[in-house]
Amino acid sequence: MSTPLGIENISTILVIGAGTMGRQIAMTAALAGYATTIQDISEDGLAGARAELEGWAAGRVAKGKLDEETAAAALGALTYNTDLEASAANADFVIEAATERLDIKTQIFERLGKIAPAHAILATNSSTLGSSKVAGATGRADRVCNMHFFNPALVMKCVEVVRHETTSDATVETTMELARRLGKEPVLINREIPGFVANRLMGAVRREALFLADAGVASIEDIDTTARTALGYPMGPFALMDLVGLDVVNFIDQATYAETGAAEDAPNQRIAALVAEGKLGRKSGAGFYDYK
Ligand code: 3HC
Repeated sequence: MSTPLGIENISTILVIGAGTMGRQIAMTAALAGYATTIQDISEDGLAGARAELEGWAAGRVAKGKLDEETAAAALGALTYNTDLEASAANADFVIEAATERLDIKTQIFERLGKIAPAHAILATNSSTLGSSKVAGATGRADRVCNMHFFNPALVMKCVEVVRHETTSDATVETTMELARRLGKEPVLINREIPGFVANRLMGAVRREALFLADAGVASIEDIDTTARTALGYPMGPFALMDLVGLDVVNFIDQATYAETGAAEDAPNQRIAALVAEGKLGRKSGAGFYDYK
């Protein structure tokens, strides 16, 4: 059994998936001084990530929140690649943020197990799939865990580090410390449970908000306002679902329900209908609210 590198020796990070989460996780790592590769099978996805991150960095510089040298260094620390094998060959730490599908993730982790250096920790950003589901495919289950970031990943401080039964203490320690070095405040989840902690808390509020709206107790606008002005939430549950993506929320519900079978976890029909209409929230221009 190989042990993961101590935190001091980690210098290269691979982020798999250039989507909403992957691109911001990669920029977070680059800003912390890590040579970071974003790998995605889609050239367009990589180009979109590059354009957004360059725009974000320019915006931060213009706002006086980031100095030009730091921005240039971070952008220079990012590499974009479509080839998983080439990207993983020298990665000290891998964060997978690809599509939330077990078959896709299993295939990726199986390949990583063969290509990534033996010392590399293989983490998944999955919000729903515990890493035990893919660990077996890697041949190094002790170096596999969840490292779950929150949207927008450049801003939100929390990272849930979730261990499964065979995740080693060294893997947990290195992953927690890496999160700290990325400027985050990691929390340790001792065992796998659908939704971990944050999505379970969010789910409880979301279910109640949907119940109140469906029962005609108040409008979604007024429910969101109440969450902000009475409870100090940064945004209300409907605005938050639009930010996260209604397809993502629907997927989390489906995956949770598949695992628990509990009636209260059943996917919400209103969300499923919006997803079927292509209303995915902010990213599609409409969801519970209109963004056009
Ligand atoms: N990307 C990068 N940075 C962003 C951003 C984005 N999409 N949106 C906002 N920001 C930055 C802004 O640049 C600004 O930075 P600054 O203060 O340093 O200049 C800062 O965030 C605040 O932004 P705004 O002033 O425009 O707006 P708010 O004060 O309303 O903050 C927010 C926006 C940070 C999104 C805040 O509303 C918030 O915290 N909302 C809750 C988000 C949340 O709960 N996320 C978790 C979702 S669950 C999840 O991700 C789990 C997954 O498994 C589903």
